Amino acid sequence: MVLRKDFLWGGATAANQCEGGYLEGNKGLSNVDVIPWGEDRVPIMRGKKEALECDSSHYYPSHEAIDFYHRYKEDIALFAEMGFKTLRLSIAWTRIFPNGDDEIPNEAGLKFYDNVFDECLKYGIEPLVTITHFDVPMHLVRTIGSWRSRTMVDHYTRLCETLFSRYKDKVKYWLTINEINMILHLPFGSAGLVFKEGENEEAIKYQAAHHQLLASAKATEIARKINPEIQIGCMLAGASTYSYTPAPEDVWKAMTRDREHYFFVDVQSRGEYPNYAKKMFERMGIELQFEQGDEELLKNNTVDFVSFSYYGSRLTSADPEVNTQTAANLFPTLKNKYLKTSEWGWQIDSLGLRITLNALYDRYQKPLFIVENGLGAHDTINEMGHIEDDYRIEYIREHIQAFKAAVEEDGVELLGYTTWGCIDLVSSSSGQMSKRYGFIYVDKDDSDNGTLERKKKKSFDWYKKVIESNGEELFLS
Ligand code: BG6
Repeated sequence: MVLRKDFLWGGATAANQCEGGYLEGNKGLSNVDVIPWGEDRVPIMRGKKEALECDSSHYYPSHEAIDFYHRYKEDIALFAEMGFKTLRLSIAWTRIFPNGDDEIPNEAGLKFYDNVFDECLKYGIEPLVTITHFDVPMHLVRTIGSWRSRTMVDHYTRLCETLFSRYKDKVKYWLTINEINMILHLPFGSAGLVFKEGENEEAIKYQAAHHQLLASAKATEIARKINPEIQIGCMLAGASTYSYTPAPEDVWKAMTRDREHYFFVDVQSRGEYPNYAKKMFERMGIELQFEQGDEELLKNNTVDFVSFSYYGSRLTSADPEVNTQTAANLFPTLKNKYLKTSEWGWQIDSLGLRITLNALYDRYQKPLFIVENGLGAHDTINEMGHIEDDYRIEYIREHIQAFKAAVEEDGVELLGYTTWGCIDLVSSSSGQMSKRYGFIYVDKDDSDNGTLERKKKKSFDWYKKVIESNGEELFLS
């Protein structure tokens, strides 16, 4: 058998994309709750347009999402039927601290996650918990400017302390901050940053990133004190960058692009700012505010494992004339003529997953965890009432073959694999429901219509067989 016996097969979700109940159980308002559907969505997420509250002229898909808040029992039962060993989900910060700076945590929110974890554990499903998946309390956005303020470190670590103490016997695997490198690309959507006219946005983003890196290290320190068994991972929007040609200028550009992403994990996994980053800040005229003790905190509290999302590789060129781009998880990339794309233009590159796994393992020498991967596609229900999503099966199968090769032939240490959106949920970039990733169909469209009824797709039985055979059987007979 190629994969370890305790390989963590499962699926991944995020609170704001599946829970709904956005103000229920005393929950407060988050940045992710004020991001609407439609043409304003991406400019707001990128921090180019301000949205500090909801208004009646927009539709907000996260407010109900797929109503996991009320239907978690039904959904977890379906995950258990597929044989999930783990379920990745995130905590909505504002369920626990509605304003972010409340004196005491909100018991209703804590109880909700108790129920969810108990339901998972009932079936032997290990919860894999992302502490924040893009969400920040709006109160902290309005009062202290979110992560631009160092005080956020205290608010975040209080959240962590509350979670680790409460769930120390239920949850072993934690991820501190989802796709931490996304702060450079989606400053509001992933970190609640809003800019004023004329500000140095790069300087603010990197200072905010420094606060997140400190917060992540502090969380690791707290976790180890509360329960030394806890395993803490960082989380990167991963994917290796290819060079458009063998021209050294292109190769150099690809290397620097990769470093933009690695920078975060370099700090979280090796415990210090890399020299290339210090030099980059000098060139950019950025002087990061470090306080006494920051360096020790980062050095002494590196992560146990490195987790990442992977949807497809990236391509870059130093030649400005080479500029045919294609869509990709909100990162710019050139179109790679050797690759097919999804219906949303995202490039499909299963060998790229093996390349990325090797690059990360060579660099960090720590166990890896693929915590997001999958194909967003339109699904249709045929006249028999079935959803024949062979395209999704093919995509996931090829990626499983790629990571198995990385384990078997390259010796990469891999803890598990959780496919993104194991049940259809709201797309982060587009707000669509029609961009579906799941093994389970949810009856809801892009305009808020539908019964929310759940329905198994063809891939449901296929993934069940994959898990049952620990990845040995990848074809339906
Ligand atoms: C990752 C995020 O960037 O990609 C998820 O962590 C997101 O939240 C996923 O949903 C897929 O992206 P999208 O835009 O297709 O939902």
